[in-house]
Amino acid sequence: MISVIIDTLRESALRIDALLKHNTSSYLQSTNASGDMQLEIDVEADRIFQASLLELPCVKAICSEEQEDICYSQSTDAPYIVAYDPLDGSSLIDSNLSIGSIFGIYNGELKAQSLIASGYVVYGPCLEMVVAQERALHYRYIDEQWRNLGALELQAKGRINAPGGTQKHWEAKHKTMIESLFAQGYRLRYSGGMVPDLHQILIKGGGLFSYPATNDAPQGKLRKLFEVFPFAFVYEKCGGYATNGVQRILELEVEHIHESTPCFFGSYEEMELVRRVYE
Ligand code: AHG
Repeated sequence: MISVIIDTLRESALRIDALLKHNTSSYLQSTNASGDMQLEIDVEADRIFQASLLELPCVKAICSEEQEDICYSQSTDAPYIVAYDPLDGSSLIDSNLSIGSIFGIYNGELKAQSLIASGYVVYGPCLEMVVAQERALHYRYIDEQWRNLGALELQAKGRINAPGGTQKHWEAKHKTMIESLFAQGYRLRYSGGMVPDLHQILIKGGGLFSYPATNDAPQGKLRKLFEVFPFAFVYEKCGGYATNGVQRILELEVEHIHESTPCFFGSYEEMELVRRVYE
């Protein structure tokens, strides 16, 4: 049943990729549940995921970053809920940078411990998808076929530093930690799109992505169900780790569906540094 959901997400990704190639989208008057400005293409991508997922007999509900509430299907006894961000990083579209879709498949309940598969799509110079179940498999769409490029694995230590959030609002200890990585020779790689920024760390074998608590956003910016839990699941399947600074991401509770959390993703050594600084 999970493979049916993954196939449906693959089909949706192809349709969204085609839309992006002919995109003339402009901002709507509306904002989403988190108060972000919505582009027409955010709403269209959301409709594509919703319509195709709710048709599946094994999907009980969907939960989208673009919608206030959970949306239930006719299949009330079905096991799975799919939470997704249909177009993450859409504010980068005008500068023609890579963006993505992120999804998590939850069994029964929307909580971290119920996540059984997750992944993301990268809309870049080529179309890629990473799907994590037992391992995180990397696919690229070539000659009208999804080709499996193999499992992604992080090394114990990387060289990339992707620090999110507005620097003037960082805590002093966070600033010191980020500077210590640069002093060790880490390179800055940050586009402002969670999907390409976290994907790059996985592809290059390691590093740190951080989106900390800040003075202006004490709970960070990135949302648990649609963004942080799915990526935490992917990173753990690649041999990495994800934390909010003091607790493993995949053990956090969820009080409401659009809740955000500070988050750090990376390989072993960078995560040890985060633990030392934050605990
Ligand atoms: P949006 O979808 O509104 O463009 O937001 C993107 C998210 C996420 O992808 C990224 O990591 C983060 O916002 C970047 O935020 P900052 O610009 O504050 O670093």
